[in-house]
Amino acid sequence: MIQPLPGFRDFYPEPVPSPDAWSCDLRQHIFETWRTTSRRYGFREYDGPPLESLELYTLKSGEEIVQQLFNFTDKGGREVAMRPEMTPTLARMVAAAERHYRKPIKWFAIPQLFRYEKQQRGRLREHFQFNADIFGESSPGADAELIALLIDSLRGLGLTADDFVIRVSSRRAWQAFLEARCADPSRAYDFYQAVDKLEREKPEVIDEKLRLVGSSLQEVREFIQASQPTSEIQTLLDELGARGLGSFVRVDYGVIRGLAYYTGIVFEAFDRKGKFRALAGGGRYDQLVHLVSGGKVNLPALGFGMGDVVLAELLKDRGLVRGATQSLSAYVLIEEESLRAESLRCVQSLREAGVSADFPLAATKSDKQFKRAVELAARVTVKLERAPDGAISARVREMTSRSEQVIPPDLVAAHCLGLIHRPPG
Ligand code: HAM
Repeated sequence: MIQPLPGFRDFYPEPVPSPDAWSCDLRQHIFETWRTTSRRYGFREYDGPPLESLELYTLKSGEEIVQQLFNFTDKGGREVAMRPEMTPTLARMVAAAERHYRKPIKWFAIPQLFRYEKQQRGRLREHFQFNADIFGESSPGADAELIALLIDSLRGLGLTADDFVIRVSSRRAWQAFLEARCADPSRAYDFYQAVDKLEREKPEVIDEKLRLVGSSLQEVREFIQASQPTSEIQTLLDELGARGLGSFVRVDYGVIRGLAYYTGIVFEAFDRKGKFRALAGGGRYDQLVHLVSGGKVNLPALGFGMGDVVLAELLKDRGLVRGATQSLSAYVLIEEESLRAESLRCVQSLREAGVSADFPLAATKSDKQFKRAVELAARVTVKLERAPDGAISARVREMTSRSEQVIPPDLVAAHCLGLIHRPPG
């Protein structure tokens, strides 16, 4: 049988066929939480093309991501790439249309992204990434707003300050550190890359790379140890504190970010136990719009990306995937085939009233119908019955409480609507 390509996923509806299979219900639950939290913060949804010109990424994303591109020459001879991240697309879109929108622009998207990475835990060759970005505001109040959204989108999934932490750092502080030791600005990206890999590569290798820019592993470690907040970071901490979100953040100069375009405050979200790779990462990139627009537009910008892969692993680890399954509201049992027409009318009235409803498509044994209702996690079953005098009534049964009510068929939709708007119990 043909298998999916390495690093690409199949998403199954619940119940998934094996414990390591990816759940489409869980994915939907995550997306809905991202969307509702973004809207609560006043962010608008946008989207862009999954295939872009290669040049968009070679411009400023940095070597690491360029090495991971799924790129090819299309039939028209264009050099193209599947998008490995959303930020360059967004910078292009904003540069082209910013005059049409009031500032600050607050936008979000949930693109599927593609990176030819070595497949490992928490890293695949495709993932969905929640992106939230703000354009046109250079005060650290915008950084605080963005990090608050990141925190609340994780809290919306049931995670708490005991589960995750946002490590906040500053590219500006690191740049000052570098400039005091190395006069060559073209070395900055290599330096950021070396610091970014501090926790993942051998100390000797890192030390050698740092010596090339006039520093050393020890100096870098001391700088991280001190993690002296810049005034921008202090404002950010104060604003998050005022929102009651101070316990979710920590100043940590061990974070620097691997991508080349960041310019100011940068941050990454991690699980508290340090078991998984980064849940999310982002920061300021005040020069990217200028660069992507060929110098025509200048707008300060900041944003973050949160992937679904590490997040799903963490939710599973914390037992927070329960309740993610989408359940059906009503299953209409047809035990009496002579009542199929009336039952179909009942199904239709439920669906028209906005109640999700299903039923057996062909004559089926009653125990199989009931098992199907259980498998679909139906809140109620509805069964039409004919009395000896020919009158038809509907028996509505709540699956958890097993309580039953017999009502006229034309009241079924209103009755079920009332039941599903009541919390289950
Ligand atoms: P990034 O750090 O490359 O940032 O990715 C952000 C998050 O996406 C990571 O923390 C991780 O959860 C997830 N992720 C990245 N690559 C993979 C992968 N191969 N498999 C699974 N998950 C992955 C960016 O992409 C920036 N463009 C974010 C941003 C938006 N900065 C400003 N605005």
